[in-house]
Amino acid sequence: FLDIRDLHRATGYFSYDPGFTCTGSCLSAITFIDGPKGVCLYRGYSVPDLVDQAQALEVAYLLLVGEKPSVAQLAEFRKEIQKHMLVHEKVKAMFSNFTINAHPMAIMVAVIGALSCIFSELDPLDEEHRWLACKRLIAKVPVLACWAYKTSIGQPMMYPRADLSFAENFLYMMFATPMEEYQVNPVAAKAINAFMILHMDHEQNASTSTVRIAGSSQANPYACIAAGVASLWGPAHGGANEAVIKMLEEIGVPENVPNFVADVKAKKEGVRLMGFGHRVYKNYDPRAKVMKGLVAQVLQELGIEDPLLKVAQELEKVALADDYFVQRKLYPNVDYYSGIMLRALGIPTSMFTVMFAMSRTVGWVSQWNEMVSEGQMRIGRPRQLYVGPKERKWSESKGAG
Ligand code: ACO
Repeated sequence: FLDIRDLHRATGYFSYDPGFTCTGSCLSAITFIDGPKGVCLYRGYSVPDLVDQAQALEVAYLLLVGEKPSVAQLAEFRKEIQKHMLVHEKVKAMFSNFTINAHPMAIMVAVIGALSCIFSELDPLDEEHRWLACKRLIAKVPVLACWAYKTSIGQPMMYPRADLSFAENFLYMMFATPMEEYQVNPVAAKAINAFMILHMDHEQNASTSTVRIAGSSQANPYACIAAGVASLWGPAHGGANEAVIKMLEEIGVPENVPNFVADVKAKKEGVRLMGFGHRVYKNYDPRAKVMKGLVAQVLQELGIEDPLLKVAQELEKVALADDYFVQRKLYPNVDYYSGIMLRALGIPTSMFTVMFAMSRTVGWVSQWNEMVSEGQMRIGRPRQLYVGPKERKWSESKGAG
């Protein structure tokens, strides 16, 4: 590759690359993607294999530390994460101020940012401080996510339980109430474990790059993660899982697929096939492949028939056989099937992107920690091509009117 800094030093040139299509912003040893082949590895391990064989917390440790944990290391990590699941009462009190129909992503931006009020004494350059911040965020974000949901339905917020796994605790905090016996469904727990692993990291996507840029000024990491949540929210990124369900509901039945595809191809009012396409993958997203299998399995094991699955399958079939999609190498991405699985687990659409954020927090803190610990803390500062007016005199200007 070309190190543009050498060229810049020698000539003053810089590259113009809106959307950063061909600009590497950092060195990273966390996630490897081979776009043309459709491969995704965490620290060298295949993501589909990890979904099959690992627990979410093991993968969190792997991403953060770089190696698979030993039994003792995992037990210690689990204990630490459990301890940090407690949330300061001041942050808990914030939830009562949100309106009942507030989008849970809006709540997440606010409450994660508010953690930086509680943990303000933090030196990102101190390794122990950083490690503590990473663990706190991995532990607390799922609790905040479930509380955002409970707030939206007016139910009391539940605390996690020490006897449950990371994935089980998510389901417990989402669906248990103080008045009823709640048994975590093992099919649902397995599905959440897989969802979390699949979404944990994906190199320099928009939200991760946002976290890195925010962190490059040595800002408080809790505020940096809040910035990542905001960046994830949009439908071109993590918000796509919510947008896919909206699209499938609008299509309604498989018979309407050809008309919808015609609208997409005609680029009618910016209509896109949500959950399709990816900046890096020019092949089937390996996470989408896993998700597709998982959806079928979860629906079958839970005995659920979702009419939207038929619409999604027909849409995929029609799109993959169409020149528009073939020529542009547009395939389903991880968001295409994930919403159908989450619906089957009883998770409302408004929580889909929150769940993405909860899982991606592991990647965000790992990337932030890597950036700081590897001395890559050069402030992120892209350039621009100025296209405005030449210098002119205020006193000589008549104004636009
Ligand atoms: N539906 C229809 N056409 C599409 C789609 C789509 N989903 N995605 C790309 N295209 C077309 C574009 O119109 C463009 O066509 P053109 O050459 O005729 O102008 C061409 O394919 C290239 O598209 P770009 O927008 O340049 O691709 P880019 O890499 O910038 O965008 C993105 C990637 C944002 C993911 C895009 O494919 C998209 O909007 N997909 C739908 C939203 C989505 O699913 N987002 C989730 C991404 S994965 C994630 O964040 C977890």
